[in-house]
Amino acid sequence: MTSLSTPRLLSVLAGETLDRPPVWFMRQAGRFLPEYRELRAKAGDFIAFCMNPQMAAEATLQPMRRFPLDAAIVFADILLLPKALGQKVWFEAGEGPRLGELPSNEALADQIEASTAALAYVGETLSLVRAALDPERALIGFAGGPWTVATYMLEGRSSDRTGSRSLAYREPERIDGLLDVLVESTARYLAMQVQGGAQVLKLFESWAEGLPEPLFERVVVRPHTAIIRRLRELGVTVPVIGFPRGAGALVHTYVDKVDTQAVALDVQASAAQGLAIQARKPIQGALDPLLLRAGGPELDRRVLELLGQWGGGPYIFNLGHGILPDTPIAHVARTVELVTGWSKA
Ligand code: CP3
Repeated sequence: MTSLSTPRLLSVLAGETLDRPPVWFMRQAGRFLPEYRELRAKAGDFIAFCMNPQMAAEATLQPMRRFPLDAAIVFADILLLPKALGQKVWFEAGEGPRLGELPSNEALADQIEASTAALAYVGETLSLVRAALDPERALIGFAGGPWTVATYMLEGRSSDRTGSRSLAYREPERIDGLLDVLVESTARYLAMQVQGGAQVLKLFESWAEGLPEPLFERVVVRPHTAIIRRLRELGVTVPVIGFPRGAGALVHTYVDKVDTQAVALDVQASAAQGLAIQARKPIQGALDPLLLRAGGPELDRRVLELLGQWGGGPYIFNLGHGILPDTPIAHVARTVELVTGWSKA
């Protein structure tokens, strides 16, 4: 048993079932909060915002002041890594990310060591947050899954990923080589985040969907396995949450083959699927962000249903994807109230 002051999130990641699950939200630092929008307006550029540890720490802490959440997630972005590896990254207002010309795998590989140093500001943000955060609240660091990050690097923007999937078949060596660079740079980046104060790591493989099994094994399972192996070689012992979003039935392959301490489920996860995974390791998820935005009796009903179906085992309450910018704050507050007021007894 872990002690009383151990953050709930860490107890559950160690396999314990608590009186009630810990709760946090993907994208909890963001545009649904007016104080975030204010800070964001001061920062101007989104990347400059992420690169400013004082501002990024403030953004990380904003939702922690408003809600009794069990974890903070560092304010950063999965596309800071390609930037640190030497590819231009910027955000077009109202549109989303844009990436410049993709350097060769050789040129990217040459930047691996430099990329970790270039991302030191994320470690500084984590240290500032850890110093300000109650000890009972856990601090999460993160990175994108190599495949998800590679799709942005290859396509230069948000896309349907068909170009990347085609390339994975047409130029397997090049794509595997790119994933190798991302595995090594991601492992070092995550290890640096732990030095900065992250107590939990999360791998966001947001685009695990639409992959046939052999490709899923090649571009998701293999790179994630390699990252975990490298993390452990680098002496990192903190728990890792894997999020293979959209994997569908292949989530079971992920659970079987990738040694993460927990798996985050997306909105489509069935009750039975969650229970089957929970027999092996803790699960997280899987409230629909559209329902959180909609609110009302259906939100209450579903939150209690998720707690009822999974709260009897190691479970972390969360969404199945990030909070939408136009989500009413009251709906988030209501959800947190329901989770923190619930008890399995
Ligand atoms: O969860 C958190 O609160 C921590 C911060 C966080 C951000 N991005 C901040 C952000 C995290 C964990 C991410 C992860 C991320 N970034 C993912 C994986 C998770 C997912 O949602 O699937 C992806 C695919 C990205 C890439 C990215 N960043 C896109 C496609 C966009 C544009 C779309 C959008 O939501 O605007 C971003 C921008 C971004 N990242 C914002 C925030 C708060 C909005 C930027 C703004 O404030 O203008």
